[in-house]
Amino acid sequence: QKDGFRFFMEKEIYEQSDVVSDCMLERVKDETTSFDEINDSILDGINEIKICACGTSYHAGITSSYLFERLSKIKCNVEIASEFRYKQPLLTKDTLFIVISQSGETADTLEVLKMAKKAGLKTLVICNVDNSSMTRLAHYSILTRAGIEKGVASTKAFSTQTVTLWMLALYFANVKKSISNEVMQKELTALREVPNALKIEDKIHEKTRRLSKRYLHGHGFFFIGRDVFYPLALEGALKLKEISYLHAEGYPAGEMKHGPIALADPELFTIALMPQNLLYDKVKSNVEELSARDSTICSISSLDFELSDDFVKIQETNHYMLEFFEMLVVVQLLSMEISIRLGNDVDMPRNLAKSVTVE
Ligand code: F6R
Repeated sequence: QKDGFRFFMEKEIYEQSDVVSDCMLERVKDETTSFDEINDSILDGINEIKICACGTSYHAGITSSYLFERLSKIKCNVEIASEFRYKQPLLTKDTLFIVISQSGETADTLEVLKMAKKAGLKTLVICNVDNSSMTRLAHYSILTRAGIEKGVASTKAFSTQTVTLWMLALYFANVKKSISNEVMQKELTALREVPNALKIEDKIHEKTRRLSKRYLHGHGFFFIGRDVFYPLALEGALKLKEISYLHAEGYPAGEMKHGPIALADPELFTIALMPQNLLYDKVKSNVEELSARDSTICSISSLDFELSDDFVKIQETNHYMLEFFEMLVVVQLLSMEISIRLGNDVDMPRNLAKSVTVE
């Protein structure tokens, strides 16, 4: 049931704070993170992590690759499952093979999991559905505990995947002793604050509602960010495309000058993800370049930015991952409000199915 919300997607956006708390239950300890589903031997003989997934789950994968390298100090790369399948990839046994899937049934992701298992690699699935094809197949499964997701556009599945992968990066960091106790404590403190970061203030929702009035006329959208805010930009653009049918691209902020900036004009809306705690000045200079070329800028940040045409102010925090989750909610709500104003069926967008079990 929708519990008074207009759409399941809206309900699921609002549920994120609670489901992320469930996801962290018994997994965030005083000194580290831990999972009943795995033990330290999972890293025996492992020098590398390979992640494969599709769509939104792929975005969670890219986000985590920054965390696995930065915190666990393990080389990590991420690929789209449908690409990986046919490239005749080199699979080596020192690789931990991770697949991410809300449903556990996506055909391409399932196939790469089979390939990796057949090649003798250790496999782990991050999944929302117990007893799905992937959890039955992989050596290890970690469940994201998001509950049933009904909206075709994934929301709470993504936030729980991202938090699970962050906890996993810290678990690996503890096994490998790759970060100091001080850094570990800072990470754990931030992790415990994620449910708060996902609580939605009325004024934030209201702001996205107001922006949607003009933004539904946009000819094109760029979501830009750096580091983990780059996959968040991809995710924001995907949400907008899926349910509003408006053209949107997610881009690394530093890449705009290598081509896409040629598109800049007042009808091009740039949604700039500007975290105070990570590379703020670098993103700022990229946004200044776009503003100088007359793109309409909507910044999402805890800091005022004088060149913005529109501004969504998030709460100040002391960790970039908390800013990540605050901004996630903003981009989800913005797409939903635009879609509602356009009269679309938010929960059942055209041409899409919840689970893609064909290639
Ligand atoms: C987007 C969305 C899709 C899925 C993708 C993978 O909102 O829901 O992009 O993320 O089809 O699905 P799972 O995670 O079930 O493998």
